Formats: sequence, C-alpha cells, structure tokens
Amino acid sequence: MSTSTMLSVENHDYWTSVANTFVWKKKWTTLQSGNFDEVNVEWFKGAKLNITENCLDRHLEKRRHKKALIFEPNNPSEAAQFFTYGELHISVCRFANLLKKKGVQKGDVVCFYMGMTPELMIGILACARIGAIHTVVFGGFSPQSLKGRLIDSNAKIIITHDGAFRGDKVTPLKSMVDEAITDLAKIETVLVVKRTLNEVTMKEGRDYFYDVLIKDCELYCPIVEVDAEDPLFILYTSGSTGNPKGLVHTTAGYMVHVANSFKDVFQTKETDIFWCTADIGWITGHSYLTYGPLLNGATTVMYEGIPTHPTPARFWETIEKHKISHLYTAPTAIRALESYGSDIPGRFSLKSLKVLGSVGEPINEEAWQWYHKYVGKERCPIVDTWWQTETGGILISPIAGITKTIPSYATLPLKGVEPVLVNEKGIEQTEMVSEGHLCIKTPWPGLARTIYGDHERYKQTYFSTYKGLYFTGDGAKRESNGYYRITGRVDDVINVSGHRIGTAEVEDAINAHDLIIESAVVGYPHPIKGQGIYAFVICMDHSHTQEEIEKQIKDSVQKIIGPIAKPDLIQVVAGLPKTRSGKIMRRILRKIVENDIANIGDTSTLLNPECVEKIIKDKKI
Ligand code: PRX
Repeated sequence: MSTSTMLSVENHDYWTSVANTFVWKKKWTTLQSGNFDEVNVEWFKGAKLNITENCLDRHLEKRRHKKALIFEPNNPSEAAQFFTYGELHISVCRFANLLKKKGVQKGDVVCFYMGMTPELMIGILACARIGAIHTVVFGGFSPQSLKGRLIDSNAKIIITHDGAFRGDKVTPLKSMVDEAITDLAKIETVLVVKRTLNEVTMKEGRDYFYDVLIKDCELYCPIVEVDAEDPLFILYTSGSTGNPKGLVHTTAGYMVHVANSFKDVFQTKETDIFWCTADIGWITGHSYLTYGPLLNGATTVMYEGIPTHPTPARFWETIEKHKISHLYTAPTAIRALESYGSDIPGRFSLKSLKVLGSVGEPINEEAWQWYHKYVGKERCPIVDTWWQTETGGILISPIAGITKTIPSYATLPLKGVEPVLVNEKGIEQTEMVSEGHLCIKTPWPGLARTIYGDHERYKQTYFSTYKGLYFTGDGAKRESNGYYRITGRVDDVINVSGHRIGTAEVEDAINAHDLIIESAVVGYPHPIKGQGIYAFVICMDHSHTQEEIEKQIKDSVQKIIGPIAKPDLIQVVAGLPKTRSGKIMRRILRKIVENDIANIGDTSTLLNPECVEKIIKDKKI
C-alpha cells in the first residue's frame, strides 16, 4: 500500500498557474509524477526549455538597459562593476561559446572553483545555456576535497581563478587546482580567469587563460533546449555519514520553485536592489544570488569579500553605496557585526532598506532584535527563511510585509508546501501545538531528484527514516497559530557559521593523522558561529603537548577538508563513552559540551562509564 500523499488538486492548480508564467519551448504533458514511496518524483515531464532564456533573453525587450548585476569588489577603492541585462546576456553567450570551443557539450559536467567575481555567475549561466551541468566547489575547500568532487562528478573541465581575494588574503586557487588534479588525467581543460595576478604555472595543452580565449568568442549563442528533468547542476553537501553528497537539481522544477519563492518571500519591486551575501559555492548563492533574482528580472548584488573587510562597516557602507533594498544574510554574519558595536550601522544611511532576510541556521532572538533595531530601524520586516540544499529553494518563511513575524520563527510554509512533524516512531503529530522531526509530505518542484551516481543513498538518506515522507534532518516546534520554529539538526550534522559540516567527515580527517587512535566530534553552542566544532581525541602516545596536538589536528583537517572544518576546541581523552557494542555515545558528549550535565542520563550501561566523569572534569568550556 502506498503511504505517499498525492498532490492535492489545489496544489496542482497552483503550480500550473505559476509555471505558466515562464517561457517554454514545449509545455509539459504531466505536471507532476512519482512519489516519496518509490522515490521517483518528476515535474513538468515532457516540457522543453532553457533556464537562461528565462533569466536573460525574455527580459531583453523591457529590461535590456536595466542593471542585472552589480559587482562590489573586495577592495572598496576598486570600482564596482555593473552589467545590464543586455550586457549579461552577451557575456553569458560569449562564455557559452568559449565552453563549446573547448568541447563542452550538453550533459557534460563543468566544475567551478573560483572566488566571487562576475565570471563565476556568467560561467554557470553559460553552462545552463548549452545544457551543460555546473558543479561549483566553494573556494574554502581544500585541494583534496576538490579532487573528491571532481572524481565523483566526472568533470573534465575546471574553471578557476589565478587567485581569489577574501579580506586581506589571497587564496592561490590555480595552484590548489594543480595540486588537486596532479594525478587526475581525465581533466582535459583548466580555464584560468585572472583576478589577483599572482604567479601561476600553466600546463601546455591543458591550461588556458580565459581573457585570451574569450576575445574571439561570438556575442550570441543560441540556447540548447533541454528536457524539464535534465540536470541543471550538482552541488555537494555534507551529511551525517560518508563522503559529501552530490545533490542533483533538475531544470524546470528548480526554476519554477526558485523564481516563485523569490518573488513571494521578498516581494521585490521593479526598482529594488537585492543583495544576497552568500557565496555561489553554496545553494543560497545559486538560488537567491543568481537564479531567483535573474528569473524575476531583478537587480542582484554580488560581493567578493568578507563582512569585516576592510572594516566592520563594509556591509552598511555597501548598502548605502548601492542603495540596496533587500539584504539577505546569515545569522552568523549578523552576530559577528553586532559584536563590533551597535553604533556602526548608525553611521550610514540605510534608508534604502526595505526587507531583511536570514538564512542558513536558526537565528537567535538577540541577533534578530539587533538586526531589526539597528539595521532595519524597526521598519523592515525580517524574513527568516528555512530551507536546505536538497529543497532547492525556500519552503518555510514569512512573506515580507504580510506575515506577522516573531523572532526566531520561520513562521509558515509557502503555498504549495506541506510540512509535517513526526515523533521518533514516525507518527504524524496532528495536534497544532507539537514538536518533532520536520518532514515534508508532498513533492514540491525544487526538490533535488537524486544524489549523483547513487540513487540508493538518496533513498536511504531522505526517504527511509519515515515511510512516504521526505525527512529534513531538522527538528521543529509548531505553535497554535501554525508557526514553525526550527530547533536545529537532529542528526550528526553541525552548522558552523551557516556551513553544513558532517561530524563523521571531520572525525575521518582527524583519524587520518598518525597521532590519533580515535576521535568523536560534536557541535557546541558558539556565540558567533552558532555552533563550534568540539573534538575529543584519543592519542597514540603521551609525548606531545596540547599545543602540538592541536596544531597537528587542525593542519590535518585543513588539508583534508578545508579551513571551515577546523575544530575550535580539542580535548585529549583517555577513552570515549561507548555502548557495549562499541558505538560512541555522541549524545553524552553533546550534553557535556552543552553544559547540560544534569541530562546526561544513565551511564551505567556503558562499556566504560568511568570515562564520562573524567571528560566532564577536563572539558574545555
Ligand atoms: O538545519 C537547517 C539549517 O541549515 C540546514 C541546511 O543547510 P544547507 O543545506 O547548507 O542550506 C543552507 C541554506 C539554505 C537546514 O537543515 N537552516 C537553514 N535555514 C534555516 C536553518 N535553520 C533554522 N532556521 C533557518 N532559517
């Protein structure tokens, strides 16, 4: 018997009317098919389209001279760059022609490992124009991580920068690519976009400078028609176990969901300027810096640097400079900027601001209030948007200016989205006021369709915990008015500064070091990052100082994953609490680092209960 719920007639009609607002080369024959039992969801089957026609070409008649993209460089004294819709269209066409010259065809995977400059956005759109699949790897990941993604995605071409500016640092991306691909013969082409002008080594016949090749590329490139369910991109994200998963988003469903949620949630008007501060290496940068705004003909702002460079006033300065109306950022950035003092935003005119957005992690009440008072001057609604890499776009959020907001509540599901809360036995909590694991009951268009090359893992991860439901991995509460409050991950994923990190991945990176016998990693409450990474480690011998061990472990994690996964706190222990079957009891460690010792529970059934007291005594917080 099927446990999956079908799309209601109302939702069917709703998505049909939304989809009718786009340009299709051929309309769909079936709006939605498949279900969460068989895990074979599809949308708009039979349709043909190209997403860049919807992002660019269709705006040319009315918006050719309207700004599509504003690029704010890392260094404030470098001039900002502006691209009208007409100019962006040409840039994308030329880049697409360049990709074609390099042999890229429909269905090929193109990897991007770049800093935040317009070429990154132009490049991914160029892929979409010719039906190639983009996979962007965040520049903060190590060469080893990049290599893993290149192998998994079967990319044959990689596009990078000579180096990337971030604050006062230059990340030597090209040499990191060289390191990643030394023994990866299948990488046929490396395209290097010049940015920092640091010295790079170019391998003849494989490596090319973008600026040299682009000169000869034609200004127009016709679109390649793709099927609704053809992949648009792969994006890697961490889970509780195993290697990062390459989530596959397909073209039509993603387009419809992202465009519609952007329009609904942010309520932008024709002259508004939208700034999403996320890096394109993350899903937020795909959906609400690139596709969402462009599909709606909006002006999107891309910032190369970090919030505190050269001073903690940079965000506010940028808002004043570009007359930004919508700011969409992460709670971690808000808390970091708050820590420099409330008077700083007050020195700038933020009167252009209309709507503030939050994404990536639960926003604590204090940060919400500060954002509301000192940035929004108590007149801008805050939309606390809940979603995930897997969901493609926002699922639960206030509608700006319409939904009454309450600090730290993502409030209500968007139209067409049906969340449910289930208890640990998988029973749906039908009482309005309840708490449980957050699941989604019926398909929505933006759902990632699979994990690249591993559909079984996709089924296991998202659809096997609760039959017939998509399981998000998050816990949530629901109030009498139907408002949802997301309480955080209920699995072994931690959220550090809005970045999703799998504890198992960090443990593997720590254990790879010769010095370490075993480790256990948990998240702990961190005042700025939301969660910090706390590692408990058992060392091979006792001849090393704490400082030496910390350095070795941090270096190892940085090398294997990248700087974002470096543990904040490291405690050397003699033993880790384990069940009789040898499983590490992370739950106990979590209670310890949360200073919730009273709720550790019964430890007498552990294999080694004596280690718990010692761990508590020596804990670092
Ligand atoms: O735990 C939730 C948290 O971020 C996770 C998704 O991370 P990622 O796939 O990297 O996507 C981040 C950008 C959408 C979720 O499972 N999360 C995201 N937004 C919120 C949130 N937690 C609470 N409130 C939010 N608004």
